[in-house]
Amino acid sequence: EQSLRSRILELNKMAAKYFYYQLRQEGGAHAMRYLKDRQLSDETIHHFGLGYANKYSDDLYRYLKGKNIPDELLAQSGLMQVDEKRGMYDKFWNRVIFPIMDVNGRVIGFGGRVMGDGKPKYLNSPETVVFDKSRNLYGLNFARTARKKQLLVCEGYMDVISLHQAGFINSVASLGTALTSQHASLIRRYTDEVILTYDSDEAGVRAALRAIPLLAEAGVTARVLNMRPYKDPDEFIKALGAEEFQKRIDDAQNSFLFETDILQQSYDMSDPSGKTAFYEAVAKKLVGFEQELERENYLEAVARRYGVSADSLRKMVNSIALKGMNFSR
Ligand code: UTP
Ligand code: MN
Ligand code: MN
Ligand code: MN
Ligand code: MN
Repeated sequence: EQSLRSRILELNKMAAKYFYYQLRQEGGAHAMRYLKDRQLSDETIHHFGLGYANKYSDDLYRYLKGKNIPDELLAQSGLMQVDEKRGMYDKFWNRVIFPIMDVNGRVIGFGGRVMGDGKPKYLNSPETVVFDKSRNLYGLNFARTARKKQLLVCEGYMDVISLHQAGFINSVASLGTALTSQHASLIRRYTDEVILTYDSDEAGVRAALRAIPLLAEAGVTARVLNMRPYKDPDEFIKALGAEEFQKRIDDAQNSFLFETDILQQSYDMSDPSGKTAFYEAVAKKLVGFEQELERENYLEAVARRYGVSADSLRKMVNSIALKGMNFSR
């Protein structure tokens, strides 16, 4: 007998095809218009298998029942909601559908976006036996074939798709969750360098600060792209185009300096003791570099950047390093 995994994968494929088809029917015209308004080409819409879930909340359910799919399997697929009063009904309706594929291109789940300002903006499939959010990255099935030395890691479906359309096919997104250590290990299978292209808002900065050490732990170095004054890669590319985005990739900031820049914001640099406290915090971070040459290179870069003499900073670092040693044996 077929395993549950393969049955759900097969079911997801049926659903993806159904959504894809509905986008091209009369009832899906407004969804198609939505995607076109967001400047996606027919080729891109096809490439990512985008679709539309009809406005009736039992549309997919009836379709799949017509194919004799048992309720039990439907419940386990994540495609349906189960409600004591209402019974079983579609998880997604009247939304643009983004099939989520694993590295091998198998559909493991879906994202659905409202067309307009409804809430929630995106709905995602729940975790199922085939969909583990912390171990999959949207777009990786395409990005893995890109002959680029880095991966671009961004926040959302539309970012990956816009980047891909602009030629940056080495883009992936962690979906509706923060980057996990499993994501970092997954990334390490393909590259040892990422460019973080998270949104330029506070949430995006926080996401980058959390991702950097996880990536480092997995052996992946990160640089951080400056998206300003735009909010995310999709908006940036619409406004300034691919060439300007490539320049931002080339100028992406070293993650250590990104972290120290953020750190500096919580110190009063116009006050001598605030300044000293900041340098001490930086010195503490520098102690983390075990390799002397690397530590020295960062020390010099930081000294230049924040206007402190390399000698004083080195003394601070050495004294912190000494204190950290354990002579009690
Ligand atoms: P954003 O709010 O930055 O949306 O969420 P976006 O990708 O820029 O979307 P557009 O451009 O308005 O269409 C980033 C990602 O976080 C997840 C989605 O994966 C989204 O792509 N998210 C966001 C959710 O899962 N649910 C939400 O309600 C919002
Ligand atoms: Mn393509
Ligand atoms: Mn965001
Ligand atoms: Mn965004
Ligand atoms: Mn966006």
